This record gives sequence, C-alpha cells and structure tokens, in this order.
Amino acid sequence: MYSVPKLEHYSPESLDHVVADLLAALDAETVVLRNDADWKAFRDRWLARKNGVLTLVNETWLKAAPGPAKREVGRRVNELKARVEAAIGDAHNKIHASSADALLAAERLDITLPGIQRPIGVKHPVLRVMDEIVAVFKAMGYSVGEGPEVETDYYNFESLNFPPNHPARDTQDTLLIAGQEHKPSRDRLLLRTHTSPVQIRTMEKQPPPLRIVIPGKVHRNDPLDATHSPIFHQVEGLAVDTNITFCDLKGTLDHAMKALFGSSVKTRFYPSFFPFTEPSADMQVSCIFCGGKGCRKCKNSGWIELLGCGMVDPNVFDFVKDNGYDSSKISGFAFGMGVERIAMLKYEVEGIQLFYEGDVRFLEQFA
Ligand code: DAH
Repeated sequence: MYSVPKLEHYSPESLDHVVADLLAALDAETVVLRNDADWKAFRDRWLARKNGVLTLVNETWLKAAPGPAKREVGRRVNELKARVEAAIGDAHNKIHASSADALLAAERLDITLPGIQRPIGVKHPVLRVMDEIVAVFKAMGYSVGEGPEVETDYYNFESLNFPPNHPARDTQDTLLIAGQEHKPSRDRLLLRTHTSPVQIRTMEKQPPPLRIVIPGKVHRNDPLDATHSPIFHQVEGLAVDTNITFCDLKGTLDHAMKALFGSSVKTRFYPSFFPFTEPSADMQVSCIFCGGKGCRKCKNSGWIELLGCGMVDPNVFDFVKDNGYDSSKISGFAFGMGVERIAMLKYEVEGIQLFYEGDVRFLEQFA
C-alpha cells in the first residue's frame, strides 16, 4: 500500500512527480490482478468513498492547496481520476475476457474432425419393381388405389365370387384373425391373400369407367421356400368400360411386359381358372434368359408363367350393380401379378428370402 503524501511544493514539476508516482503504483497493481476478487479489491482501493486513493488525493491535495495553486492541482487530479477509471475498466475487461476464453476453450469443438457418415439408402428392390410396374400403367392412364391388409371375408372372397366353402378358396391358404367365430362369415377378418379385394372396394366408391392399379402387401400361410414367402407383394389391375374386350386385355399386358422386360419379349395367354374372371388366363412371357430357345430357367419350354388375368365375371359386377356396374352394359378385364416374382426375373435373384433378410451385401447391389 502506498500513501498519498502531503504536497509541499506546487510547481508543475513537483506536481508531475507525485502524479507519476501514483500512476506507477496503479500500473504495478494492474499487472498482478488474477480474478474478479482481485479486481474488486483493486477498484475499492482506488475508488472507495472512504479512504480510496482518489478520495485521499482530493482531500490531501486539492482541498489543502492554497488558492493560486488550486487550478494546477485540480487539473492533475482530474487527469489522475481519468487514468484510474480507465485502468479499472481495462482490468475488468481483461479478467472477464479471459474467463470467457477459458469457457470457450473447455467447450472447444474440433470442426475439422471427419463427421459420422450415414450412407444414403436406396429404395428396396421389391418396392422399386412395384413402383416401376405402377408407373407403366400410370403412363397408360391408370390411377393408383390401395386397400387394407386386414380384410373381411366378404371382400377377400365372397364378393370375388368365391362362395363360402367353395374349393377355390383352398388355392389361397388363408391366415385368419383369431376370435372371429361369433361374427357372420362374411364379416370375419383375415389377412388378405391377394390385392383383388381392392377391385370391389374401388368399384363401390367409383362408378364406371375405371382404370386402376393396386400395389400392396398380401399374406398366405405358405411355408418359405426359394419361390414362396408367407408375405409378398402384388400389383392388381382393373379396367372397366363399355366394350372392353379380351383384345384390350392382351394388348395392355403385352405392352406392359415389353415396358418392363424390353421390347423383344413376347406374351401368350393360356386358359386358366379364377372365380372372379370368365374367361380366365395365365399370361406367360417368352423366357427373358434364353429369348425363348429353352434353358434351365424356363425348364426348356421357352416360356415363363407370370400372372393371372381374365374378363371380370358378371357375378362380380352384380355385387356393385347399384353403383352403375350393369354387366349387360359394361365389361372389364383384371389382372394380378406377384412383384417378387417379377423382381426375381428382372434381377436374376435366386431365392425370394434374399428380399427379406436385410443382408446389406445383397441390398447394396441395388444402390
Ligand atoms: N388374385 C389372383 C391371385 O392372387 C391373381 C389374379 C388373377 C388377379 C386373375 C386378377 C385376375 O385380377 O383377374 O392368385
């Protein structure tokens, strides 16, 4: 601590001298300030009303100065006051800036470190093929519809002309929802075995004419093998209008197969049976592996069976007669295809299970 000496001489030189002594003391103090507590003590030492250095300077220098010297002394005191206040302000900034620096240093992030790279996914091959099939029909003016996976017996079977207990139901081994026995059989819930129920659902909502494709997931109680899975996907199609003929069906599907597999692919239609179409057909495409010459994949027949189709059975229209589906005035065709089957042919996938196992080595090939 330094004291404020009494002034004995009032010449400018001696005033400068005592002021310089005080400023030197001020500077010496600012150098050793470390923290807020140091700074407060420093501030009080110089600015406190009682016994602060500036107060003492006022009293011992200014008040005691004889009249003629007051001006010179006052000028020195004001100068000193300004210097002290500046020094206190600077010291404050320095201490607080350095604590902010410490905080920043503690929270420092190294933004030059490489980030966590998340590989961008791609559409699953099944969905990709499903979208592709849908796009082919959209380009022909079809709209896209959907329906529930948990379906009633009525939509999945009855309205598609599968009467209760009809043996045609046995071709689709059905997973039933438990605890439905108390309901009338048409209201019982099951997992839809095909996308065909959405045909009736759509016709109930929309009068003819109609062109619609219906992509979706279906379920059957089939054990998993190289070509069967209890869950798989279908794309259904339905076109209803006046004067729709089997030629329209053939032309539409032939075009769709060429769009999907390439223009050299051929189609042919074999008689078949589905309760909801009459006549019904299985459509085959010329083997996309050997071009029809015969190979292991087509079992040397040159043809591969791909989908079911036919002209909508008038009995089906009867279920939606009230919505304008009068089978004496309109006709239609329908078809349904398995998406996995088409994906397996397109990408030469050997086993259906590869689509569901989620093995990245398999899926990566579609990236
Ligand atoms: N729903 C049939 C199945 O899953 C496929 C099918 C055949 C759909 C003929 C149709 C059709 O619309 O007309 O086996």
